[in-house]
Amino acid sequence: MTKVGIIGCGSISRFHHEGYAQAGATVAHVCDLRREAAEAVGARYGATVSTDYRAVLDDQAVELVSICAIANVHKEIALAAIAAGKGVVCEKTLTDNPADSAEIARAAEKAGAFVATAYMKRYFPALQQAKTLLADMGQVISLYARTWQPWDLWNGPVDEGMRAHPSSVKRMYGGGVLVCGGSHILDLIHWYTGRPTKVVGDVHIRAEMDIDNQANAMLWLGSGGIGHFEACWHPLRFGGFERNGWDERLEINTEQGRLDIYTVMWDHPDRNGALLVHQDAFTGRTTEYRYPQVNPFHIEMAEMLRRFEAGEAPQPSAWDGYVVDQLIATITASSAQGTILPMAYADHVAV
Ligand SMILES: NC(=O)c1ccc[n+]([C@@H]2O[C@H](COP(=O)([O-])OP(=O)(O)OC[C@H]3O[C@@H](n4cnc5c(N)ncnc54)[C@H](O)[C@@H]3O)[C@@H](O)[C@H]2O)c1
Repeated sequence: MTKVGIIGCGSISRFHHEGYAQAGATVAHVCDLRREAAEAVGARYGATVSTDYRAVLDDQAVELVSICAIANVHKEIALAAIAAGKGVVCEKTLTDNPADSAEIARAAEKAGAFVATAYMKRYFPALQQAKTLLADMGQVISLYARTWQPWDLWNGPVDEGMRAHPSSVKRMYGGGVLVCGGSHILDLIHWYTGRPTKVVGDVHIRAEMDIDNQANAMLWLGSGGIGHFEACWHPLRFGGFERNGWDERLEINTEQGRLDIYTVMWDHPDRNGALLVHQDAFTGRTTEYRYPQVNPFHIEMAEMLRRFEAGEAPQPSAWDGYVVDQLIATITASSAQGTILPMAYADHVAV
C-alpha cells in the first residue's frame, strides 16, 4: 500500500487525497503553509501534519507526493521531491513557464523518477474511448476545440482582487483562461493529434486586468491537419452540453469519420457523464458513448498509483506538462508579435 504525501491543502487537494484513499493508498503526511488547512485534511486520515514541504520530503515513509500548491512554487517543490527520491504527481500547469517545466522533466529523466502532470480530463472514460477510436480513423483533417467557462470576465464587473496587479488569479495560477481552462484542452490536443509544429495566436486582455479572458489559436497539428482552439470566460450562462454555461467541446475530423467530445463542469463531474459521439464516414452509423457520472480525478489518482507501483511511466508525464507550457508561451508570443511561430521543443523528440 503506497504511502502518499499531499503538499498544498487548498481547493484542488481534496480530489487527490480522496482519489488516493479510494484507491487504497495511505495518506500519510499532509502539508500547507496554512496550518489549519493541513490539519483539516490530516484529521481525516490520521496523517502527519506539517507547514513546510521539506518535512514531507524528509519523511522516509512517504513514497509519492502530490503537489497541489500554487503554480509558482511547483518547480522548487518538484525538484526537491525528485532529489529526495519521491514519486511526484504535480497539479497542472506543471510550472508557469516552459523553461522551468523542461528543467523538471530533465531532472525526472536523469533520476529515473516517476513525475506526472495531473491533467485529469484524459481520464474521463469518454475521452479514453476517443483515443482508442482515433487510432483506427486514419489521417486527421481538422480539429475544433473550445473551452468556454461561465465566468463573465468578458464584459461583466471586475472585482477588486481581479483588478489588483498581480490579480488573485495571476498569483495563484500564473495566468488567465489560457492557463486555467485552455491548458487542459492543449493537453488533449497534443495527446490526440501529436505535438503541434506551428501556431498563431490571439490573446485578449481587458484594459483593467492582468490576465487574459479570451485566447484563440490555430495550430498545425503534429499528426497533420489543422486545429482551431478557443478559450473564453464568457457571459452565456445557459449554453453548452449541460446548459449551464460550461461549454467545452472537441470535434476531430478524420478521413474516416468524426468524433465529438463533450466534457462536463470540471469540479462537478458528479452531475453528468462526459459524452462521445462517433460518426463513421463509410457506414453512416453514428454511435453515442454515454458513461455514468464519474470523477476523472479519482480515476486519475488510481491510475497514477497503479503505474507508480508497477514501475510504469506516468501518464501524462512531466514532458507532457512541458509541452502544454511551451504551447501557452508560444501562443502568447505569437499574439504579441502578430505572426505565425514554429514550435521549438526543448527535448527534440520527433512529433
Ligand atoms: N486540474 C484542474 O482542473 C485544476 C483546477 C484548479 C486548480 N488547479 C491547480 O491546482 C493547484 C492549486 O490550486 P487551488 O485552486 O487548489 O489553489 P488554492 O489556493 O485553493 O490552494 C493552494 C494551497 O497551496 C498552499 N501553498 C502555497 N504555497 C505553498 C508551499 N510552498 N508549501 C505548502 N503549501 C503551499 C496554499 O496555502 C493553499 O492552501 C494550482 O496549480 C492550480 O493550477 C487545477
